[in-house]
Amino acid sequence: MSDDDFSPSALGTKEHWDSVYSRELKTFQEYGDEGEIWFGEGSMTRVVRWLNAQKLPLTTSIVDIGTGNGMLLVELAKSGYSNLLGIDYCSDAIALARNICEKEGVSESVSLQVADFLGSFSPPEQFDLGLDKGTFDAVSLDPSGSKEKCRQYIQTLCRILKPNGIFIITSCNWTKDELLKQFGNEFEVTDELPTPTFSFGGHTGHSVTALVFRRRTTCS
Ligand SMILES: C[S@@+](CC[C@H](N)C(=O)[O-])C[C@H]1O[C@@H](n2cnc3c(N)ncnc32)[C@H](O)[C@@H]1O
Repeated sequence: MSDDDFSPSALGTKEHWDSVYSRELKTFQEYGDEGEIWFGEGSMTRVVRWLNAQKLPLTTSIVDIGTGNGMLLVELAKSGYSNLLGIDYCSDAIALARNICEKEGVSESVSLQVADFLGSFSPPEQFDLGLDKGTFDAVSLDPSGSKEKCRQYIQTLCRILKPNGIFIITSCNWTKDELLKQFGNEFEVTDELPTPTFSFGGHTGHSVTALVFRRRTTCS
């Protein structure tokens, strides 16, 4: 770890997510419970609503980066989107997402793949749209060098999205300004999704930030 890395945490390690999803997979098998929806149901509804409002073709190719239990993809499939891929580096997360997709009857619209976004992920074609809900947050807590991992994340994102491709990120670790600072060279912000606000000590802020970016054509 270098001196100026972001705050390292167990939440930035694969071991942490392996143990979370091993537990959640067991719980699903025993009780049929889908597990945690990061940032709540509202965070999914906002993304799905925004996409529906754009009237994008239902065949738009969409990748959910660090899909976890895949619930965002389930909601998108129920809205009619049919070209969906979820990737996660935890095999139990992908097993859980697969079980949930089967239970919800959306397996035909959703592909799932075990892949490390910063390593093994090498899709044959670029995507129209990328989604991230909590994954960049996890990457930016990686104790093995968070700044370098964030740089790798943005590089991979440039590589796997089409020029002018859309990227929607929901984050609880980063403010709008901080996200703009990190992604601004390669991506321009085009929209901000409304998120709940909180007030403390006379100041009002957002606990979650959700931004829509467009990949610049100059990004390589
Ligand atoms: C905070 S959870 C969010 C899960 C899901 N997006 C959601 O909203 O419920 C972060 C997810 O990112 C995954 N993840 C973290 N780093 C990853 C990487 N380098 N490649 C693929 N998945 C990763 C974790 O396994 C975990 O599923």
